Amino acid sequence: MAKDALVSDEMAKKFATEKETPYTRWVKSEGLDIIPAHYVPNLHTVELKPWARREARGVYLNHEASRTSNDCYVCEIPSGGKLPPHRQLFEEMILILDGRGSTTVWNDAGKRITFEWKAGALFAIPLNTWHQHFNGSGKEPARYVAVTNGPAIINMYEEPEFLFNTQHDFKNRFAGEPDYFSNKGEQKGLLLETNFVADAPNLPLISAKERGAGGGHIRFNMAKGSMNSHISQFPIGTYKKAHAHGPGAHVIILTGEGYSLMWPEGEEPRRYEWHIGSMIVPPAGWQHQHFNTGTTPSRYLAFKHEGVAVRNTQGVPKAWISKRVGGDQIDYADEKPIIRQLFAEALAKHGMQPRMDEAYQAELADLPPLAA
Ligand SMILES: [Fe+2]
Repeated sequence: MAKDALVSDEMAKKFATEKETPYTRWVKSEGLDIIPAHYVPNLHTVELKPWARREARGVYLNHEASRTSNDCYVCEIPSGGKLPPHRQLFEEMILILDGRGSTTVWNDAGKRITFEWKAGALFAIPLNTWHQHFNGSGKEPARYVAVTNGPAIINMYEEPEFLFNTQHDFKNRFAGEPDYFSNKGEQKGLLLETNFVADAPNLPLISAKERGAGGGHIRFNMAKGSMNSHISQFPIGTYKKAHAHGPGAHVIILTGEGYSLMWPEGEEPRRYEWHIGSMIVPPAGWQHQHFNTGTTPSRYLAFKHEGVAVRNTQGVPKAWISKRVGGDQIDYADEKPIIRQLFAEALAKHGMQPRMDEAYQAELADLPPLAA
């Protein structure tokens, strides 16, 4: 599924009028670019343009596969500055990339909460609440990356007056609870129930052997939203299993260095190098696989929306289930020799060797038999 599937210009012209959507028109009307990104080398330095509505600078990052599901933008608050109050009828999750500051959230009932953040903080804006971001530094800009489910909502309703100026409190999502944005949470299975993580790069994780190589994992569902996210970490000298899923996962590197391979079924893997601040957005249905080639554990944050996770009847994402039983994850035992060869070569450049034997052995215990 999901090869590039390019056709002639003549055929493409027949669909040209359908290529744009209310969402893409809206971004253009904001005066901003959309980077059609499968890969952004560095969110900390990606080029921004003036953004009049937000009195800041920004850029949208959105490619064809997630154009109708969820999107991503980077925004910079000038030093000593603030963004104007803002509300929107779609959800938003934010990772602070650089700087420090605070955010005030309030509703029409007059409940108001302010919380502080710095680089590495992760939180969500409750649906349709008023919110305002303040840069806490007079010297340095503050920069954040956000993922929203704006495309689906904007495509459906289109009118900015409705999207950005509807008076309604979703009280089950936010009612001004005093500890709403406190840095604490209850662990329920792999899910950490919280609306605020102060330091995502250093948050303790839970072991999750199903994704391979002794990895750590934790999942979030913030501000009672329909979008979710998770953090995944993998040790020195290891890599994760390849898997595929729906569009709209935005994978942001929090620590370490390495590379990812991505490929549509039946094609050769394409390689994307990464380090802190790189972003990978796997297209719908493409296999993708992440490799740690650095001298520290590697950790990433993946922003998603529910459409990413095709689930089986038990509610388990198929990206967590072996291809041998009909899932979308490739077991180590079934990967092509080139995968291991490329990894060993990349590590050798740092004078290191793969530490995968334990993971290969551990997999055998639960590996479903190959179909005859
Ligand atoms: Fe993935």
